[in-house]
Amino acid sequence: MLLHMSTWAEIEGFLARSKTVVIPIGSNEQHGPTGLLGTDWLCPEIIAHEAQKTGDIIVAPTFNVGMAQHHLDFPGTIALRPSTFMAAIGDWARSLAHHGFDKLYFLNGHGGNVATIEAAFSELYAEASYAGRPRGFACKLKNWWDLKGVMSLANRQFPAGHGSHATPSEIAITQWAYPDAIKAANYAPQIAPTGPIREAKDFRARYADGRMGSDPGLATPEKGGELVAAAVTALIEDVAAFSAEETPNAA
Ligand code: NI
Repeated sequence: MLLHMSTWAEIEGFLARSKTVVIPIGSNEQHGPTGLLGTDWLCPEIIAHEAQKTGDIIVAPTFNVGMAQHHLDFPGTIALRPSTFMAAIGDWARSLAHHGFDKLYFLNGHGGNVATIEAAFSELYAEASYAGRPRGFACKLKNWWDLKGVMSLANRQFPAGHGSHATPSEIAITQWAYPDAIKAANYAPQIAPTGPIREAKDFRARYADGRMGSDPGLATPEKGGELVAAAVTALIEDVAAFSAEETPNAA
């Protein structure tokens, strides 16, 4: 079930049987010469939207901008500073909690978001603690590649040239979902360099075409489909386990 394609009455009906909501979260940032700018929010959205076709889960609108300041010297990148990102995640969560959702499952598509999302959770838990609210409210962060079986599959598919940015696995997922948007380029070098992540000018100087350690030329829609299938199975299981956590005194 997709929240944005539902009515308020349908959401009220869903809340009568579940208080768990899945929120795809990512970043809108350059992904090398062939990766879509939306890659990091498209991947969790593709997986979550696919999962809700067979699992009884509700998926909130995708939070599609995040921690991308180091990519700002590549056109099309949109970034939130950490304080803005935390404030926005907080209000997103407070809105859903206001309706009765007390288990918020963030399915993340951007490694650079992790520290700030966790800090936003800490702010929400601090509020609950100072207010002395009853148990029950919980946030969970899961990177899609950390879903059970996904990284091991990616390692088998891409034994070399996976890298850490504009990876063939994430690009393969977008190719599977959007085959009309597949791009081609001559990569030089075939596998991109690796190194630290600092500010925008340093990033562009180190990583001329935007990739880090990756060879996106290895991506195929078929491999993307395999990754999505593994991620969907694991996501449905993981959301069910989170939802089933005991919350005595939750009322
Ligand atoms: Ni990415």
